[in-house]
Formats: sequence, structure tokens, C-alpha cells
Amino acid sequence: MRSLLFIPADSEKKIGKALNFGADCLLLDLEDSVAPSRKAEARVLAAAFIAEARHLDKRPRLFVRINALDSSEWEADLQGVLPSGPDGILLPKPRDANDVERLAITLDHAEAKAGVPIGCTRILALSAEIPIAVLTFPTYFEASSRLDGITWGAEDLSAQMGSSATREPDGRWTSPYKLARDMCLFTAVAAGRQPIDTVYVDFRNLAGLAEECRIAARDGFTGKLAIHPDQVSTINAAFTPTAAEIAWANDIVALFRDNPNSGALSLRGQMIDRPHAIRAERILARAKLAGV
Ligand code: COA
Ligand code: MG
Repeated sequence: MRSLLFIPADSEKKIGKALNFGADCLLLDLEDSVAPSRKAEARVLAAAFIAEARHLDKRPRLFVRINALDSSEWEADLQGVLPSGPDGILLPKPRDANDVERLAITLDHAEAKAGVPIGCTRILALSAEIPIAVLTFPTYFEASSRLDGITWGAEDLSAQMGSSATREPDGRWTSPYKLARDMCLFTAVAAGRQPIDTVYVDFRNLAGLAEECRIAARDGFTGKLAIHPDQVSTINAAFTPTAAEIAWANDIVALFRDNPNSGALSLRGQMIDRPHAIRAERILARAKLAGV
């Protein structure tokens, strides 16, 4: 999933257009973008949309962001949306992987009751939204097998930290938020889950978004959250391997195939060994997923 677009689920208008934007995943939001008075309506709208959209041939993955486990809403959120068959749940504000486990157990029961395969409802964790969660990243190595990806959030974290800014004047993350971002990346990669970069809130600034995507893809993130439809194509482009990267990867694969007994080889004046082969295989796998 390269682009994951938030849709405030209480907005019939935004849900109505959600399939038009080319996002790889839709995140139907029941949490922060929905006022408390609109939560019940949002559950109904999200469930109706998923029940219909999941039968489409070519469709994005359909996830629901429920309310946090310390709220009084999350159980009603699950009761409201699970019968419609979402592909997964985005869990906001987990303290650590134990919260993911709590959600996973609730999903075990719901799936058993519904008679669907145990484990089919996937989980994405929205890490680093609360200060303690920046200190508990290593717990994710033991996380539920339902966990597909880990992303992170600077907005809620900054509110709790009392930071007056999360970015330097030139747009780079300030130190505490760079730490959260980097920990998310290391943890997701090391735990074998998808690393997904956070939202770019300045949604009219597509040049700024493109630069942030370039840096995220360079560092190893393979997707990014979106809040506005205009962000989707920029994100998809940035996380799709380029023709030059694919050509390079094919050359590396061919080089090792033609020299099965060599560990280190040379290509266009560069030393090539096992790490390059791994990188090449990853690029080709991502290109295949993106259909290029
Ligand atoms: N999903 C679906 N449609 C969206 C959308 C979204 N996330 N964001 C905007 N649109 C639609 C608008 O309804 C509008 O439709 P129209 O042309 O038929 O009127 C069109 O795209 C253009 O929107 P625009 O006028 O540029 O933005 P806006 O001022 O209406 O909305 C936001 C700006 C930020 C409020 C809106 O993008 C939004 O709700 N984003 C998601 C917020 C969210 O989920 N936050 C939680 C995660 S951090
Ligand atoms: Mg939030």
C-alpha cells in the first residue's frame, strides 16, 4: 500500500467520492476527524460503504480507524463496522504491542462468531501518538501476526508534549519527531511489517509533499498516509519504483544469475554484493505490486 487516504466517515460526500482518487487503501475514520455527536452516524456510513465497495473487482483495501482503546467508543466502533467485512483496522494511540494484542483478541472472537477465517482482519498500528509509545517500540517484535504495518503520528504527540512546533522553518522534523519517525521505520522493517510514513498536513503544498515522499522512500518507507485526494498521485508516484530503479534491479538479478559462484561482482564501476541483491529483489517485488 503506497497511499493510504483518510476519509472522515461521517461525511457522506467524501465517502461518496472515495473510490475515485486512486488510493491503494482507504482509511475510514471514526476517530479524530469525527465529532463525538457524529460517531454513531459515521459507523453506519462506514459500514454501508464497505459492505458495497468490498465486492468491487478492482478496489483499494478498506480499513477503519476506530477510536483508541482508552475511549468509550472503540467497542461500539468494532460492533458497527466488523459485520461489513473491512480488510483491517487502524489502531490509534496504542501504548505498545499489548494494545495491538488486545485488539487482535477482540477480532479473534468477532471472526469466530461471524464464521470467517481467524486472522483475516488485519491491523495497522498508529505508533508514537502518545509519549509513552515512543519508548515502547521494541515491544512490536512480539506483536500479533495480524499486524501488517506500522505508521506514526506527530500531531497528537505534539499536543501531549506541549511542543509549539514539530518542524523547523525549512520543513524538516524537529529532533523529538525525527526520533519518533526513525524509530517507526527501524521497528517496522526489523519486525517485518510495512513502514508507513505519517501525514503531510500542509495539503495545498504538493512540492513540499513530493520532497517529503522522496526522502521517506529514500530512507525505506514504502507508503505514506494522505489526508486530501490531491496528495494521492504524488504519493503513489514517489513510492512506485522508477524505470531506472527497475532496470538497475534487473541488471543486478541477471548479474548474480550469470555468476552463481561469485559473492562480489562489479557493475558500471560499482561493487555489487549480497545487500545489493536484496535491495534489487525488494524493488522488483514492489514494482510487481504497483503493477509496473
Ligand atoms: N476524502 C474524500 N474527499 C475529500 C477529502 C478526503 N479526505 N478531502 C477533501 N475531499 C473532497 C472535498 O469534499 C471536495 O469535494 P468537492 O470538490 O465535491 O467539494 C474536494 O475533495 C476538494 O476539497 P478541498 O476543498 O480542497 O478541501 P476541504 O477544505 O473541503 O477539506 C480537509 C480539507 C482537510 C478538511 C479534508 O481534506 C479532510 O477532511 N481530510 C481528511 C481529514 C482527516 O481524516 N483527518 C484525520 C487524519 S489526520
Ligand atoms: Mg489523531
